[in-house]
Amino acid sequence: MHFALEQGIFQFNVESEPELHQLSAVASHMGKTAAIAFRINPDVDAKTHAKISTGKSENKFGIPLSRARDIYETAAKLPGIRVQGVDLHIGSQLTDLAPFAEAFQRIVTLVEDLRADGHDISVIDLGGGLGIPYDRESSKPPLPTEYGQMAKRIIGHLGCKIIIEPGRLLVGNAGILVSKVIYVKQGENRKFLIIDAAMNDLVRPSMYDAYHEIVAVKEHEGPTSPYDIVGPVCETGDTFARDRDLPDLSAGDLVAIRSAGAYGAVMSSTYNTRRLIPEVLVKGGKYAIIRARPTYEDIIGLDELAEWQD
Ligand SMILES: Cc1ncc(COP(=O)(O)O)c(C=O)c1O
Repeated sequence: MHFALEQGIFQFNVESEPELHQLSAVASHMGKTAAIAFRINPDVDAKTHAKISTGKSENKFGIPLSRARDIYETAAKLPGIRVQGVDLHIGSQLTDLAPFAEAFQRIVTLVEDLRADGHDISVIDLGGGLGIPYDRESSKPPLPTEYGQMAKRIIGHLGCKIIIEPGRLLVGNAGILVSKVIYVKQGENRKFLIIDAAMNDLVRPSMYDAYHEIVAVKEHEGPTSPYDIVGPVCETGDTFARDRDLPDLSAGDLVAIRSAGAYGAVMSSTYNTRRLIPEVLVKGGKYAIIRARPTYEDIIGLDELAEWQD
């Protein structure tokens, strides 16, 4: 808070009452005023995976709509605070506009109520959440233009400055995870493609049951057969996909896991002392390593003995 105030941040999106009081204390102590919006939980089902749904009343995020007018009242009286907006973010990877529209409609009503209560509401932060196609065959999320038209239709008349926070939409399909086949293993009744990427490199399939397209890097003609594509980590959850039709592959072949540009590298870890994979930026025929693979010493070197250990 101190740093953000020093930098002259445009707005704090405050998401709880204790946070509001803390911000008031920090800003007053610095002799500054923090412009705020409250993150409102509109209690709308985003119809996305439970672990990335954030706008239902049972989710930990935001101020319940029913408490909103009271908390704006409280904020307006606090030192170091200037109320200016309303914020929401109902979830991630939404593939339908309806939950957004329902949430935005609730926010419109709230803004009208807050203005009637005497608050000067001039900013609405709509959050992020618009989904991307992970499966080119069947998933067709709305286009950003359709989202924009819907938002304008519902909230345009309020005359507010609009903030959006797209994440995945910008970068999700800009990245792939390239991995090498280590072994092809025939199980009792399944064929496993064991690759050198694992759940620590891209956790979405094991964490969110997420679908990622997986293709052979070298185009093959000819027959395909179903594979379970798994990593080498000691967890059954270390599975990228089941029953995917791929051409005949063998050790050393490369596969690409598509749509790995969002929530891939940023959620990766060194679990099993696996080194973070390098990130390579590609433009036309040019490439550059923009995040190098750390060494084992880099990882192990973070550990220290306690001074009282022999
Ligand atoms: C507050 C907030 N805004 C924006 C985003 C970006 O979401 P997305 O990548 O789904 O657009 C997130 C992601 O979790 C978030 O928590």
